[in-house]
Parts: sequence; C-alpha cells; structure tokens
Amino acid sequence: MRPPPGGRTRRRGLSLGVLALCVAAARCLQSQGVSLYIPQPAINATVEEDILLSVDYSCHGIPTIEWKYTSSWGVQKIVEWKPGTQANISQSHKDRVCTFDNGSIQLFSVGVRDSGSYIVTVTERLGSSRFGTIVLHVSAVTYGCEIWTTKQAECRRTDAFELWCWRRLLRVPWIARRSNQSILKEISPGCSLEGLMLKLKLQYFGHLM
Ligand SMILES: *[C@@H]1O[C@H](CO)[C@@H](O)[C@H](O)[C@H]1NC(C)=O
Ligand SMILES: *[C@@H]1O[C@H](CO)[C@@H](O)[C@H](O)[C@H]1NC(C)=O
Ligand SMILES: *[C@@H]1O[C@H](CO)[C@@H](O)[C@H](O)[C@H]1NC(C)=O
Ligand SMILES: *[C@@H]1O[C@H](CO)[C@@H](O)[C@H](O)[C@H]1NC(C)=O
Repeated sequence: MRPPPGGRTRRRGLSLGVLALCVAAARCLQSQGVSLYIPQPAINATVEEDILLSVDYSCHGIPTIEWKYTSSWGVQKIVEWKPGTQANISQSHKDRVCTFDNGSIQLFSVGVRDSGSYIVTVTERLGSSRFGTIVLHVSAVTYGCEIWTTKQAECRRTDAFELWCWRRLLRVPWIARRSNQSILKEISPGCSLEGLMLKLKLQYFGHLM
C-alpha cells in the first residue's frame, strides 16, 4: 500500500524546515566567527610621522577589508582589499598608504588634516562583518615646540646661534648681508615659525631624518 500523499508532503516540508534551520544556524555561527582585535584604539601623533593603524582579525575564509576615514571634512574611503591581493587605494590616499595581510594599514607622513576616526570593516564572503574604530590625533605642536614656548627666554639667548643655523641651512653667505627680516620671511611660510625653527634645529642636530 502506498502512503497517503499528504504524509510525504509533510515530511518534505519538515526536512526543508530543518535545512533552513541548519543554514540559519550556520550563518549565525559564521557571523560570530568574525572577530577584530584593535590593540590601540587612540593614537596621538605629530606631523610627518608614519602611523601604523594596527588591527588583527580572524574569520572563516578570506574577508574583504575596508578602511574609511571620517572627520569634520566628511567621510572618505581610503582602501579596500582582500588579503593576498592588490589593494584598491582611493585617489586621496595614493602613495600614502600601505596595507598588511592582518588588516592593518600604515599612513605615511601624516598631516594635521589626517586627524579623525579611521573605521575598519572586515566582511566575510557570506556578508557578515565587524567593524572597529581608531581615533588618530595629529598635532602640529611637537614636544620640542612646547619646550620652545616655555623656555623662550632661554631660547632667546641662542638667537644669534640660531640665525647662524638658518643662514647655513638656507645657504645664505654672511657676506650676502641679508637682513634678519628677509631670512625670517623666507623660512616662515607653510607651517608655524616655531615649528619650522624647531625642525631646522632638529635637522641641524641630526635628530630628524
Ligand atoms: C592623547 O592626548 C590626549 C590629550 O591631548 C590625552 O588625553 C590622551 O591620553 C593621549 N592618548 C594617548 C594614547 O597618548
Ligand atoms: C599587523 O601586522 C603588522 C605588520 O606585520 C604588525 O606590525 C602589527 O603589529 C600587526 N597587528 C596586530 C594587531 O597584530
Ligand atoms: C576601486 O575603487 C573604486 C571606487 O570605490 C571603484 O570604482 C573601482 O571599480 C575599484 N577598482 C577595483 C579594481 O576594484
Ligand atoms: C640679526 O641678528 C643678529 C643675531 O641675533 C644680530 O647680531 C644682528 O644685529 C641682527 N641684524 C639686524 C639687521 O637686525
């Protein structure tokens, strides 16, 4: 005797239900599989430093990693890649970023404008993802400049020596008899005079580069 057709339909319905449950469970397990580790969620830096935005992830298979940058200037995509393949770096960060297989990126020679939040998203092939944030603060004021302002009196005593440094760095011969003002003018554009003076000082003493 054949079983009534209704029974077979019910059994098929049941097995489909079990299958759906299994798929859901598998997806659930996999989304729990993405984990993201960020050892340093806040970084203070000074201009021209190279900064490693360090992360590490674990998940099933090879994910897609994306870094975005948000600040008062807006949101900007920096880079997207699958570890082991060529990274797609946005025009704004061309030649300024390199990527690592653990999801980290390195920013070369940061500027004050690079301050902001960096959001990394790790997305698995099946679509589950996890994101994390690193807040970067880039300061134009260096430790040395703080010394400069607090120890200005002391610094003033070395003015003559500094001017000699500047003249040397700008390759102004003493016999050129250029006024101090014109030398000051030449070195002041761009960043703050104090910052520049410090840079020149440090360069002179070989602390920089
Ligand atoms: C960064 O600087 C701020 C003050 O400017 C300070 O509160 C914070 O602790 C610093 N963070 C790190 C990681 O050095
Ligand atoms: C990620 O890789 C870079 C380069 O190998 C390494 O310097 C960094 O420490 C790694 N980050 C973590 C969180 O392991
Ligand atoms: C790289 O990213 C840009 C902008 O997001 C996109 O238009 C382009 O198709 C991407 N290129 C590759 C090779 O993925
Ligand atoms: C330029 O600076 C040097 C060193 O401080 C000083 O001796 C000299 O009088 C200054 N010259 C002018 C024209 O201000």
